[in-house]
Amino acid sequence: MWNVNRLVDLFPPKLRRKTRNQLDSYLETLEVFTSVKDPRVAKALLPSGIRGLLLHRGKQGVPTKLTSSHQAYFDWTYPADQPEMAELYRRAKQGQWDADSMPWHTSVDPMNPEVILLPDAFVDFAHLERHGIRFTAEEKLRLKYSIVTWMLSQFLHGEQGALLAAAQVTEAVQFFDGKCYGATQVMDEGRHVEVFRRYLDEKLTKLYPINDNLYVIIDSLISDCRWDMKFLGMQIMVEGLALGAFGTLYKMTEEPLLKNILKMVIQDEARHVHYGVVALREHYTKELTESERREREDWAFEVALLMRNRFMAYEVYEEWFEGVMTRAQWREGVMNSPGMTEFRQVMFRRLVPNLREIGLLGPRIMPSYEKAGLAKYFSGAAADKITADDLLHDA
Ligand SMILES: [Fe+2]
Ligand SMILES: [Fe+2]
Repeated sequence: MWNVNRLVDLFPPKLRRKTRNQLDSYLETLEVFTSVKDPRVAKALLPSGIRGLLLHRGKQGVPTKLTSSHQAYFDWTYPADQPEMAELYRRAKQGQWDADSMPWHTSVDPMNPEVILLPDAFVDFAHLERHGIRFTAEEKLRLKYSIVTWMLSQFLHGEQGALLAAAQVTEAVQFFDGKCYGATQVMDEGRHVEVFRRYLDEKLTKLYPINDNLYVIIDSLISDCRWDMKFLGMQIMVEGLALGAFGTLYKMTEEPLLKNILKMVIQDEARHVHYGVVALREHYTKELTESERREREDWAFEVALLMRNRFMAYEVYEEWFEGVMTRAQWREGVMNSPGMTEFRQVMFRRLVPNLREIGLLGPRIMPSYEKAGLAKYFSGAAADKITADDLLHDA
């Protein structure tokens, strides 16, 4: 991150804090664009980056219309040549559940200290105190309420992305067994939208707008015309991110309805990532040229860093701390908070082995992952070897 403090000192004292935050935001955006080393990856991410980070498309309160020119792939011979996908389809049919069957009668009170949405340990309160911000017990509950609502809002926005992406890849994928499986995933994602929307609407009564970085990733994969990029973006990257976030919240929350919902959603998501690994392993190891594979390898690494570094809950910062501490100080606290540390660990423990399994963790890119401190996940189990039970117990 560039040092903005010296620049800001040129402004009159009254304007400094606001200017510092504004500059911090621009420089952070610039850093995203300049940190991407592969020009093909930069070209693929740039239009989405402009729409998300500069134009804040997801926050304008109007529908977003994105054009995608992927090909719909028909096969009139109906081949049954992907047994692992056919088996996932069978399991997905049996694993369907009705969102109405969740215990919606549970009364949820975010301010009840007996049934907490999040433990205090999720937030780095000591960091806030070092900046002179002290909380009463009630204020702590209110801040955690904001954080959980922010997280669940991002889950909901991510699920909408997953719903549309699952529909697109069902059209575009060339495996017929994959199309049948894809139909079940569309249903799953529709149900996930339903449960998170209902929980936010009826229990937390608030919705935060989509985080700009999440918008960039969704925009990028929905508008990309290559079916495998949609797959890689949604089934591997965003699903990996979701499993990290769902797993962390599942482990930490004491609220029984939320725990129940997350448990059901995690079981569905385990199938989704498994499908992504099976479909892309087949395609990446047999169909792509080495140059095309390298582009995917670079894209996945950049998006992994984007996911690690960019979910800073600035929407919560703007509501609570703007004017009290700087954006950079808030970011430091979020980066080091126990909850975010746990989230990153679960996410990468899931993601990195999947990238290895589909052939996107070759010797050329490995040093970059090592430098980012992710080498410890190289030999973990990929999604095709992990059951939903493993995910729930290891979460
Ligand atoms: Fe989902
Ligand atoms: Fe999913």
